Amino acid sequence: ALPDSVSIYEVSPRDGLQNEAVTVPTTRKLRLIEALAQAGLTRIEATSFVSPKWVPQLADADEVAGLLPRVPDVTFSALCPNAKGLERALTTKIPEIAVFISASETHNRKNVNNTVEGTLAAFGEVIAPAVKAGLRVRGYVSTLWGCPYEGEIDPRAGLRIAHRLVEMGCYQISLGDTIGVGTPKQTRDILRLFMSEFSIPQIAMHMHDTRGTALANVVVGLELGIRTFDASVGGLGGCPYAPGAAGNVATEDLVFMLDGMGVKTGVDLEKLWTAGQVAKAVVGRDLPGKVHKAGVRS
Ligand code: HMG
Ligand code: MG
Repeated sequence: ALPDSVSIYEVSPRDGLQNEAVTVPTTRKLRLIEALAQAGLTRIEATSFVSPKWVPQLADADEVAGLLPRVPDVTFSALCPNAKGLERALTTKIPEIAVFISASETHNRKNVNNTVEGTLAAFGEVIAPAVKAGLRVRGYVSTLWGCPYEGEIDPRAGLRIAHRLVEMGCYQISLGDTIGVGTPKQTRDILRLFMSEFSIPQIAMHMHDTRGTALANVVVGLELGIRTFDASVGGLGGCPYAPGAAGNVATEDLVFMLDGMGVKTGVDLEKLWTAGQVAKAVVGRDLPGKVHKAGVRS
């Protein structure tokens, strides 16, 4: 049986805007965030406390985090790679951060200039101190379905990393198909592996839709009982250190499908579609989401 309801974790202001050619002004980022919250999304990744040299698009993270709207029931989060990132997060009121690491050694090096072991060691100065300061900490494990540099990845490498993250204090691990190469049978195998060692609430799916398989993979997750899905309005996004990767599964497409399947999300699809129009205006280009382009009904 499918879950009655699922939790959507919206990543467009972070995963989306980090990959745009143009840097979006802070006030426009906040307009998008506002529209997403209005649509009923309750978990929104707003920005990244990463190096402004590495991701100039999100160099205004401190301002964005400081100006987030106060909406009841909405939890904002931000990426945080190291102690410097946590120091920045703690000067704001952001209640949640997310650490990120790759199952692939090469992608990890390209993304954070460190080995997998070195990155885990650096998280010692992030996760426990953040939890102690009252923040919730989420963890991403990237390239589980494949790496742009190494090709196929053994998901057991990701499983070992996920255990370390949970031991250090992450409440949930988001499994990343960073470059959007996953297909349903592979997804079933990866999810079964993680489900054999973690509980359902500890697992989220973060599916980029580069090759059009993200929703099919989400259905596999739903049928196995997964209840947390990352998504990006309009399909905005990609990883700057995974060349050619498209955005996450479009939030409108995900909600449209879940509505049709009778799975509750708490999101108002019409308002979400409007938020997608805001996203399009904010980045000044057409976005790839199907429902975004086709409209909710006709
Ligand atoms: P580094 O250059 O090795 O850092 O970068 P460093 O520790 O040697 O420091 C160099 C300089 O950066 C120093 O400043 C530090 O203070 C500064 P300087 O002395 O030269 O003036 N610095 C910082 N400044 C601001 N905030 C910080 C920070 N840390 C150091 N937090 C680092 C290492 C991790 C910082 C860098 O590689 C980085 O920022 N990488 C981020 C890359 C990124 O954001 N990638 C995209 C997000 S991941 C993703 O998209 C995948 C995901 O969506 C899941 C999926 O799809 O699978 C999550
Ligand atoms: Mg991503």
